[in-house]
Amino acid sequence: MKKKYLGIGIIGGGFIARFHIRSWVGVRDADILGIFDPDEKRAAEAAALARKLKVGNAKTYKSISDMIADPAIDALWIGAPNYTRVEVMEEIAHAVLKGKGELVGVTCEKPLGRNVKEARRMLELVKKANLLDGYLENQVFAPAVVRGKEIVWARGAAIAGPPFLARAAEEHSGPHMPWFWEGTLQGGGVLNDMMCHSVEEARFMLTPPGAPRNVLKPVSITAYMNCLKWQEPHYAAILAKNSGGKTDYLKRPAEDFARSLVEYKDKSGKKVIVETTTSWCYIGAGLRLTMELLGPEYSLQINTLDSGLKVFFSRNVMGKEGEDLVEKQNAEIGLMPVVANEETEYGYIAENRHMVQSFLAGKRPEENFSDGVNVTELLMAAYMSAEKGITIPFPPPGLDTFVPAVAQGTWNPRGK
Ligand SMILES: NC(=O)c1ccc[n+]([C@@H]2O[C@H](COP(=O)([O-])OP(=O)(O)OC[C@H]3O[C@@H](n4cnc5c(N)ncnc54)[C@H](O)[C@@H]3O)[C@@H](O)[C@H]2O)c1
Repeated sequence: MKKKYLGIGIIGGGFIARFHIRSWVGVRDADILGIFDPDEKRAAEAAALARKLKVGNAKTYKSISDMIADPAIDALWIGAPNYTRVEVMEEIAHAVLKGKGELVGVTCEKPLGRNVKEARRMLELVKKANLLDGYLENQVFAPAVVRGKEIVWARGAAIAGPPFLARAAEEHSGPHMPWFWEGTLQGGGVLNDMMCHSVEEARFMLTPPGAPRNVLKPVSITAYMNCLKWQEPHYAAILAKNSGGKTDYLKRPAEDFARSLVEYKDKSGKKVIVETTTSWCYIGAGLRLTMELLGPEYSLQINTLDSGLKVFFSRNVMGKEGEDLVEKQNAEIGLMPVVANEETEYGYIAENRHMVQSFLAGKRPEENFSDGVNVTELLMAAYMSAEKGITIPFPPPGLDTFVPAVAQGTWNPRGK
């Protein structure tokens, strides 16, 4: 019998878990009932947030398997660090296959894996465990993206022809936790961490409404990466300090700037282009997402820092540093944009509603692990291109086993 309600368990109780929990005030037919995090304090804090917001009477568990064994838990959201992906999914698959508990589905945060081998392993494990799978790419659920795509395709494309260029950029001043900065742990630098959003959002915009993903076929990728800011001794010292001396950007940097151009062929054989830019060295008010979609007689633009709400604080308002106005906020005074409801604007509410409703209907979500694999394939081809300084025809030989030099800890643009 189909379920009418889901109990959700979240794996990882950090930054992204808090976003999901806050988004849950807009999600129906499911409650957050469990948190597992090896850091018990983090787990307790996340569970307390869920209870405070009344989005579920969340408990903490000693292990993923214990959480699965609880009959109250029907689906899992993976929000643990990238370097734990495969071990987390292996534990889930093992527990389900051994009959420790029953689950309907699993969702996983971006990126699905640190490389193609890991991403494909995630897909293989979820299939083996016979679970529905959702890939958590929030930007394809962002209201401005969804509504913008709908309008442009219905009016512009229907009359003047389909769009030919999608641009997407995600930029901020750098991640909040030391593990993101370590290529070996995270899988790369900003290209892996943030271009995963941009390539997928732009691909989504260019895809005709309702058409399957494979209607656009990647033909080639040209990418560039560099470390523009964080390898400077002053900034490298900040990273070293924040990580208790572990992160060494003088010897082992990751890219803090990257761009890519992906050429696709549409159904009629015409070329359409995705252009992305990402950086960890953007100093503005905070996180800035910009998107564009361009066609023969129309265009669309989104800039999340062009928010409707702005506040002004004079130089006499010298408050504490915070992230209360916008994600990755860089300042507290002057004219500041505020994203009034980040969980809505960035797409988390619509994303989680879609995942829950798909699982309840017994359907595979529209954004799933296969999309996560495709994104990883594009990113790894982008690293190949940036490392060699050439355009890479897609799919390139060796993609299955490719691990970027950044992820091996051997990339150093100044060390040549
Ligand atoms: N969609 C987005 O825009 C977005 C934004 C931020 C992070 N993310 C993704 O979410 C994931 C987590 O990022 P974060 O910013 O929350 O990191 P974080 O470091 O703030 O939190 C991660 C949490 O996972 C816990 N953890 C460590 N090992 C674990 C394990 N084996 N099992 C369960 N939990 C474990 C840590 O103790 C920590 O509390 C990453 O994959 C990241 O790429 C996505």
